[in-house]
Amino acid sequence: MIDPSPRHLAWLAPRFLLFFVLLLFAGQSLQAGPGQHAVASAHPLATAAAQEVLAAGGNAFDAAVAVTAALGVVEPQGSGLGGGGFFLLHRADDGYSVMVDARETAPAAAHPDLYLDADGEVIPGLSLDGPLAAGIPGMPAALGHLAANYGRLSLADSLGPAIRLAEEGLPVDATFLQMARFRLQALSDGADAARVFLREGELPEEGEAIVQPQLAATLRRIADRGPAGFYEGEIAQRLVEGVRAAGGIWTLEDLANYELVEREPVVLHYRGARIVSASPPSSGGIAIGQMLNILAAGGNGYGDDEVQRVHLLVEAMRRAYRDRALYLGDPDHVDVPVARLLSAEYASRLRADIDPDRATPSAELPLEAADAAAGPERSALDRESEQTTHFSVMDAEGNRVAATITLNYPFGSGFMPPGTGVLLNNEMDDFAARPGEPNVYGLIGFEANAIRPHRRPLSSMSPTFVETADRVAVLGTPGGSRIITMVLQGILAILDGAGAAEVVQARRFHHQYLPDRIEYETGALGSRVQLQLARRGHALSPQVRPFGNMQVVIWDRTHDRIEVASDPRGNGSAAVFTPATAPEQRGAP
Ligand code: GLY
Repeated sequence: MIDPSPRHLAWLAPRFLLFFVLLLFAGQSLQAGPGQHAVASAHPLATAAAQEVLAAGGNAFDAAVAVTAALGVVEPQGSGLGGGGFFLLHRADDGYSVMVDARETAPAAAHPDLYLDADGEVIPGLSLDGPLAAGIPGMPAALGHLAANYGRLSLADSLGPAIRLAEEGLPVDATFLQMARFRLQALSDGADAARVFLREGELPEEGEAIVQPQLAATLRRIADRGPAGFYEGEIAQRLVEGVRAAGGIWTLEDLANYELVEREPVVLHYRGARIVSASPPSSGGIAIGQMLNILAAGGNGYGDDEVQRVHLLVEAMRRAYRDRALYLGDPDHVDVPVARLLSAEYASRLRADIDPDRATPSAELPLEAADAAAGPERSALDRESEQTTHFSVMDAEGNRVAATITLNYPFGSGFMPPGTGVLLNNEMDDFAARPGEPNVYGLIGFEANAIRPHRRPLSSMSPTFVETADRVAVLGTPGGSRIITMVLQGILAILDGAGAAEVVQARRFHHQYLPDRIEYETGALGSRVQLQLARRGHALSPQVRPFGNMQVVIWDRTHDRIEVASDPRGNGSAAVFTPATAPEQRGAP
């Protein structure tokens, strides 16, 4: 029986207080992380590399180092040491979110006419194939930065799985072969890339082993010396000598002066959710923000009508990509009007300009700030392929990483400086080679994205977090210019309650202002929707090739559940596993 005397109450009260405080903290620590690790990446061996590092006591940031390095070995068409990317990080213990910008930079000798002939015409292929197409890589800096500033393990420990994969080799798969066939000429042009990836100038057989001892040696140097093992010393010397001997313009100073930048991500609010995405020099976060703001300007509504939903989304996409072309570029070199582009007033104006019943021809949306008209549209053939890769990680404590990383086109420039094992990017094609000139993805740009020394080319890569009252999602995808609209559709699906598998499986459509057409995957638009959209004046362009390779982790805090999914369009894998137990594999759905 409880003694109600004041003396007894005085004894009980502080103990009750302590009990409630402990309960509160216990609740918070339950909420801080999912208690399980979750990884989704574009290759099972990269997912396994993350698992290995997490099992060794690493956190999500160590796992990010392991996956990044492993993807560069096992999916060399998509990313690698010779490229760059954006890493969106969230640290659970203090709620800090940041974007690590490891985007490539233009060499000091780059200039606006770099890819033009004496008549000012763009020389075909010069910004795509060979070392003149390559920006100064940011990836080695990112690996070192993540390990030193956010990880728990040493850089050498987290690079271990990638070094092993490069030394032991791995069997060629169908995706590698498809992309190598597409880039056969570029890979054949240099002796080193051809020796690693081809067999006497021909494609290897499926299942044949690709072994990369020189890449392993370069990774070991980075493991031993940090990023200086790449940007200085013997490797830097070989990189610069190889690039210059083959017609490139890199210098040792370009490498030594490479600077990674930590940037504030773009933070958006839509339908009660907080959305964190990539800031410039990515166009992703701003374009996604503009599109969501346009939807919000009409009260978020498009009713249940699918035609109206697609029409409105397409008109929002058209306007966001028009502004991408005009205003976005490297924020360290150009004044990007972020606040204006993301303002509710601007979105209301854009929304008011949308005719609910008619497509707005892109030709009627002015390129006011540009001195030149847009160049010719790229044909669908030019956009036959796209690469880049994405992974999503969340550790048991709730640390998370969404990273989209790239060499740009499949196998980047196709050029490997002798004695390095490093395939170089062709990120310089993401600049506007000339005002209004479309790049390989058909994207146009003007002064804000003109080639200048040390500038970062504008990107579409959009690693993203979606945070609602009960769920946290980590997502992203490769896909060239379509990355932004794919991530937008992923965000909307998550806000509509979709699970990870549903998000990655959903069929996708896309509009990018120019070419003025809706591109869509088979099954994305039903026949009634296609007919109605055509009646509204939309040009429709069905695409044979699938869009993207999305990797998603969703933690449902309310139901204490974590879901992962790797896009069925790719060969990736996703896994959830409890710390210190054997991983439970979950392949593509
Ligand atoms: N290289 C593709 C992108 O950054 O958007």
